[in-house]
Amino acid sequence: MRTLRTVAELRAALAEPRRGGATVALVPTMGYLHDGHLSLIRAARGAADEIVVSLFVNPAQFNEAADLAAYPRDEARDAALAAEAGADLLFAPALEEVYPPGFATQVRIAGPLTERLEGAHRGAEHFHGVTTVVTKLLNMVAPDVVFFGQKDAQQALVIRRLAADLDLPVRIEVAPTVREPDGLALSSRNVRLHGDDRRRALALHRALTTAQAQLAAGTRDAAALAAAARRAMDDLDVKPEYLELVDPQTLAPVAAVDQETLLAVAARIGEVRLIDNAVLSPNGRSAGS
Ligand code: PAF
Repeated sequence: MRTLRTVAELRAALAEPRRGGATVALVPTMGYLHDGHLSLIRAARGAADEIVVSLFVNPAQFNEAADLAAYPRDEARDAALAAEAGADLLFAPALEEVYPPGFATQVRIAGPLTERLEGAHRGAEHFHGVTTVVTKLLNMVAPDVVFFGQKDAQQALVIRRLAADLDLPVRIEVAPTVREPDGLALSSRNVRLHGDDRRRALALHRALTTAQAQLAAGTRDAAALAAAARRAMDDLDVKPEYLELVDPQTLAPVAAVDQETLLAVAARIGEVRLIDNAVLSPNGRSAGS
């Protein structure tokens, strides 16, 4: 695996395989790779010939300076893990390569997809930062297929909207959330959970599994399911920033689980903000938790 720093190097490296008919997959990351990222790289390996992993901590999507400063970084470790999982190229540009002096363009998706849930709490600017950098990465790599994780369900929805609205010629794959054996969703931020916070972080998964159990027992009412999920979080002394049952396509709140419903939750555990979600299904088959 080669590490590339510039768009020119990246395009040069992809030109020859492309001439030979190779297909290209992109796995965009902000680094500090965990098994969730590695599962995306392995899935990409099975879907295309040339696998590009991008590693760029994108300041434009951080709404808190402290979160950006504390974001874990270890490029040497990431390079070793990406290579082992099957990446061919690691694209790790400097800040100025992505945002050169004079950079002034933003790609913004308006409306509920960016304003609800994460948008309501982190600000829609978070998603404007994501859509801007993802558009740039897609233009830089020009992949046939790009991979995202279901843990960031709202991000995946926003990216699908972006690709549809801008006619981006790329297939979008969303892979299931990868979890620790006790259910905690993998996240680069988990390394910052210390002491009792690691145990309390299970509150998010407990909320999801509690709602799923209540649904399986016959409760369809969204308020009742949300109340049960909140109580499960209370038991670990965690208050959600939000816990909502919404339509998985529009993010509009639902009154009952009469069709597939996204249960999305965010909570701050000590200094660390975590998110998680599950897709609830009225026939009892739930995904994601
Ligand atoms: O999901 C992430 O890690 C980031 O939001 C992404 C897609 C790499 C854009 O910076």
